[in-house]
Amino acid sequence: MARKKSTKKTPSKTAKKASGKPNNKRKSAPAGKTGKKTARRTGRKSYATAESMASAQRSISVSEFFAKNRHLLGFDNPRKALLTTVKEAVDNSLDACEEAGICPAIDIRIEQIDDDHYRVTVTDNGPGIVKKQIPNIFGKLLYGSKFHRLRMSRGQQGIGISAAGMYGLLTTGKSVQIISRTSKRAQAHYYELQIDTKKNKPAIIEDQTIEWEHEHGTSVAIELEARYARGRQSVDDYLQQTAIANPHVSLTYHAPDGREDHYPASIDELPPTPKEVKPHPEGVELGVLIKMMQDTRAKTLTQFLREEFSRVSARVAGQIIETAGLRARTRPRRLDGEDAKKIFKAVQQVKIMSPATDSVVPIGQEQLIAGLKQVVNAAFYTSVTRKPAVYRGNPFIIEAAVAYGKPDKKNTEKETPGEQARKSEDADDGQVAKLIRFANRVPLQYQQSACATHKSVVGMNWRSYGLAQGRGAMPQGDLTVVLHMASVWVPFTSESKEAIASYPEITREIRLALQECGRKLGRHIKKNVRIRQELKKRSYIQKYIPAIGEALGDILDLDERQVDTACDNLKGVLERSRKL
Ligand SMILES: Nc1ncnc2c1ncn2[C@@H]1O[C@H](COP(=O)(O)OP(=O)(O)OP(=O)(O)O)[C@@H](O)[C@H]1O
Ligand SMILES: [Mg+2]
Repeated sequence: MARKKSTKKTPSKTAKKASGKPNNKRKSAPAGKTGKKTARRTGRKSYATAESMASAQRSISVSEFFAKNRHLLGFDNPRKALLTTVKEAVDNSLDACEEAGICPAIDIRIEQIDDDHYRVTVTDNGPGIVKKQIPNIFGKLLYGSKFHRLRMSRGQQGIGISAAGMYGLLTTGKSVQIISRTSKRAQAHYYELQIDTKKNKPAIIEDQTIEWEHEHGTSVAIELEARYARGRQSVDDYLQQTAIANPHVSLTYHAPDGREDHYPASIDELPPTPKEVKPHPEGVELGVLIKMMQDTRAKTLTQFLREEFSRVSARVAGQIIETAGLRARTRPRRLDGEDAKKIFKAVQQVKIMSPATDSVVPIGQEQLIAGLKQVVNAAFYTSVTRKPAVYRGNPFIIEAAVAYGKPDKKNTEKETPGEQARKSEDADDGQVAKLIRFANRVPLQYQQSACATHKSVVGMNWRSYGLAQGRGAMPQGDLTVVLHMASVWVPFTSESKEAIASYPEITREIRLALQECGRKLGRHIKKNVRIRQELKKRSYIQKYIPAIGEALGDILDLDERQVDTACDNLKGVLERSRKL
């Protein structure tokens, strides 16, 4: 108390400064002459006040944020920017075609305009886009049809294509050009759009109807600062891997160097349509639950739980409400944060059926191997599709495949198993295994070491399957590992959708899938080693057969022909008694 008094009577200099009263001119004045003078006089720096900071505080538009943080969206360098742009457009085309039940046929064209200036055009045969929606889809970040639902698709955030357009605009000043047509009877619409980053709104530069040769579909063209190079993490790589995981897709690629690649569809059927699911109560966070309670149209708590969540029957809803100590007929909007907490806790206590898993569609074991065979010529292949599992209430499936050893295709048929074994073992020297990653059939190219798949591969003991491996490193050998996660919501580590987050349930499934493949691979490698050792022993004995023949000839007084026959017989006995 005494201290409080003394402060009031004779306030110290510091207390005065900290009081933030308007009579403190130096504080409220903008950093300028006055501030400098005082700073010089007192020998201290001029600091901001809550008031001076308030004058600079304002909301940030989502486009301004991502324009500054373009690396979060996968536009950190020109080479990656080219890949991200192609990827966003192709992924959208594939999603749209599949949702509309159309076997996708996509045309990808990259033209070099200048040294570091490219134009990407992606044209699909999808359902097209309704005219009214075109400006928002391509000229507004966080606008899409996939974010508010739980359904397996390549896109999920509503950022992808508008971000690519924004990057193009920022680096070249050029608008995004869109042509879209919804049916033979409808006209094709042509738009030139720019994103107004301050407002996160589309600016329409050009809007007209045109003649277009396609009956339905969408074409998007973006000019951007970019760099084209082949090899790892390239557009070429991405398209090749897309073809592996999407055998129903037909791709035509016109590279900037004049090359034209075709990836025809190897099956003419679409994969089964994934079902949309409602969130599972166990996976919903408290904040989300509160928001859902505010937004719901349900009139009673029972109705809310039954209608907004999956796997909640009337009986389960009753149990949750009883455990939470609430009333079934209460309006959800009337409930407060404390009540939400009670429901949240009750959900964890009541036994609720696991989420329905027909919402996730795997690539399939055979299809994975067929795809892998298109790019890796190996001696051994195996794959596994795990049973559906759940993380944070979201169903998911992990698939893995491995390809191992490199047979010389031309000579494979003539080679003995021993020769093949030696060859594949020789190929292992110092070579590091390759990992191909997919999330909802989309190849992931960057941030490998941040990905749950990579962490699981390096965390496995591959030595027990007969491969060399340094501590915490990828296994060595002529090995290609493919991992695919299919889910209604893939938990990416950032908006650029490059790496899968390491939820324990996900890493466990990946580990189990890898172990299953690893065991089969181990048997194959061990068999190869056995063959190799046997061959070594055989050749050791074979070396002495001519000498034994000669000795037999001397002892038994045999002529040359008889010695040859004896040698042949000995070889026959050796091969029969020591089977490979
Ligand atoms: N080629 C297309 N054909 C039909 N609809 C499309 C096409 N491209 C985009 N769309 C629509 O535009 C929306 C926005 O696309 P965008 O790529 O910005 O986000 P997204 O695909 O929903 O999510 P993500 O940011 O993860 O890619 C999509 O949700 C889809 O409804
Ligand atoms: Mg998208």
